[in-house]
Amino acid sequence: MTGVEQSGVKQEVRQFYDQIGWTLVGDDVYQNARYEDLRPVAREYIHRCHLRVSRHLSPQGRFLLDAGSGPIQYPEYLEYSRGYQYRVCADISITALKEARKRIGEQGLYVVADIANLPFKSGAFDGAVSLHTIHHLPEDEHVQAYQGIYRVLAPGRTAVVVNGWPASRLMNRFEPLVRLALRMQNLSRRLVGKRPADKAQAAAAGKPAARPTTKKGTFTQRHDVAWVRQQVGAIMQLEILTWRSASVRFMRALIHRWLGGRYWLRLLYRLEERYPVYFGENGQYPLIVLKRNE
Ligand SMILES: C[S@@+](CC[C@H](N)C(=O)[O-])C[C@H]1O[C@@H](n2cnc3c(N)ncnc32)[C@H](O)[C@@H]1O
Repeated sequence: MTGVEQSGVKQEVRQFYDQIGWTLVGDDVYQNARYEDLRPVAREYIHRCHLRVSRHLSPQGRFLLDAGSGPIQYPEYLEYSRGYQYRVCADISITALKEARKRIGEQGLYVVADIANLPFKSGAFDGAVSLHTIHHLPEDEHVQAYQGIYRVLAPGRTAVVVNGWPASRLMNRFEPLVRLALRMQNLSRRLVGKRPADKAQAAAAGKPAARPTTKKGTFTQRHDVAWVRQQVGAIMQLEILTWRSASVRFMRALIHRWLGGRYWLRLLYRLEERYPVYFGENGQYPLIVLKRNE
């Protein structure tokens, strides 16, 4: 497993996911879900955004690669490999792979591997996804990871990569409003002695709140749209579309049932569908489609 043992950053990331990120803090809820908005008001929007990934993958095939699979934590993720014989889960965290096995059992092949050094034959996969994982690599290995995913695709097949931008022009426009709303929420919480956001979110999802841990996150490094177009676009055909333009911070601050939150998110989703490139480049999370040459 080249790379996994060598890099201090990777060791730290692996330890984090083995010991913290993929520990269950409730019924089917991992510590890692603290980065998601699990409230009912956001559910429909998030569900529909997850399903966008399938549109860009070949619906059928022998092997689908899930590079940095984690435990396949959301039910929508199962859709991506529904028409495939095998889903190959590659992850540096053994805990992730053990958890993934509980979800897809015999359909899965489980490989402890570093996504910057994929140990697979060129052209072996009919489709690939890599969701929220490349950002855990040291900066100088990001291109290598894109290249590896591209290399293992069969000719004419596609891969979908999702990672957040370091900053979103769209979200930045709302930042003053977000800050104000969060300040007001904190103030009202203190006045009425309500629970903090994490506990409220867990309760809204019908789950027990996460036990406090000393460490809540791990190493990440993100690149912007210009970097992806220049560095990755120079070596392979890619499209930058929208996965989801609203950040969790934005949603927690401004999207609420009593403010018609579900309807605002429906409107946002419709706009994203209409202008996928604009929202892909300016929203929080792009969906990057890589297409292997015929
Ligand atoms: C944020 S989680 C995302 C998991 C899953 N793709 C999802 O969207 O729920 C990142 C995952 O990538 C894995 N990971 C981090 N660095 C990796 C590397 N260099 N090679 C393989 N997997 C890696 C972690 O162990 C973790 O399971």
